[in-house]
Amino acid sequence: MYFPAYRPRRLRRNSNLRELIAETKLSVDDLIYPMFVMPGKNKKVPISSMPGIYKQSIDNLIKEIREAKKLGIKAILLFGIPEHKDEMGTEGYDENGIIQRALREIKKKVKDIILITDVCMCEYTSHGHCGIIKDGDVDNDETLEYLARMSLSHVQAGADIVAPSDMMDGRVGVIRDELDGNGYHNTAIMSYAAKYASAFYGPFREAAESPPQFGDRRSYQMDPPNVREALREIELDIEEGADIVMVKPALPYLDVIRAAREEFDHPVAAYNVSGEYSMVKAAGKLGWIDEELVMMEVLMSIKRAGADLILTYFAKDAAKVLSRK
Ligand code: PBG
Repeated sequence: MYFPAYRPRRLRRNSNLRELIAETKLSVDDLIYPMFVMPGKNKKVPISSMPGIYKQSIDNLIKEIREAKKLGIKAILLFGIPEHKDEMGTEGYDENGIIQRALREIKKKVKDIILITDVCMCEYTSHGHCGIIKDGDVDNDETLEYLARMSLSHVQAGADIVAPSDMMDGRVGVIRDELDGNGYHNTAIMSYAAKYASAFYGPFREAAESPPQFGDRRSYQMDPPNVREALREIELDIEEGADIVMVKPALPYLDVIRAAREEFDHPVAAYNVSGEYSMVKAAGKLGWIDEELVMMEVLMSIKRAGADLILTYFAKDAAKVLSRK
């Protein structure tokens, strides 16, 4: 049936009609809020390229987690800024490391929030790479053992889900074995399965003080032109025991999210990364776009592409908008 009998505009006439036929719904239940924790007391250091996002000590972090919870957010992703960095990233798997201390405190003081931890060496190594360096290169197999130790220490301290973001081959299987071998068969793994070598991580690296001191991450993170390779990466992680698979970044890789959604039945997460956040914030500040509308449109696009879960620094802002609806 064609015009004039059929008029698509009939169902767009008011917001009730539009809501009624909306194909995609965004919910606060889908959002995961990434947060940065640092040592000290009463610290709250703004990250200049990410307005509204802070590195904070455990006391202030807990205040913000409570605030996020009140807004309906059910999960946070935790990154640690350690006291000391060294070649082997020792603080990453120390039971008294910043993440481990934070997890224990949060578990004691906040009920019912899902704690996800980022498992990677780069925040803890002096060279800023995501693994152990041997002969000037990141050694895959040697790094696996460290990632397994780090994951176990997070879980022992209270992590509900571990999220390996290092992109070493075989790490999901090794982490699964380590957790199962220690009785943590109920702890889920959210793998950064298709993580691209992206310039969109720039602001995050300022926050985590983790830019690589030599070279770049292209020998382990994925090459942007590839989508079939992303599906192979996701398949491997599922085979090795990943419970949730992630595509990262989100906006420049919506096609990868869509392909992952069509190919697999596992929950698919997408990471709306630091650079995606900063661009919207910057243009908003300049008055070049309506920040709130653009934020909601961006998040909706990620959901529509097929993501079940969205990791986003906009989580609190979006939760506020969603609660007004
Ligand atoms: C650690 C890690 C990174 C991000 C999440 N985990 C940085 C990187 O790989 O360089 C990026 C998050 C963001 O940009 O918001 N490997």
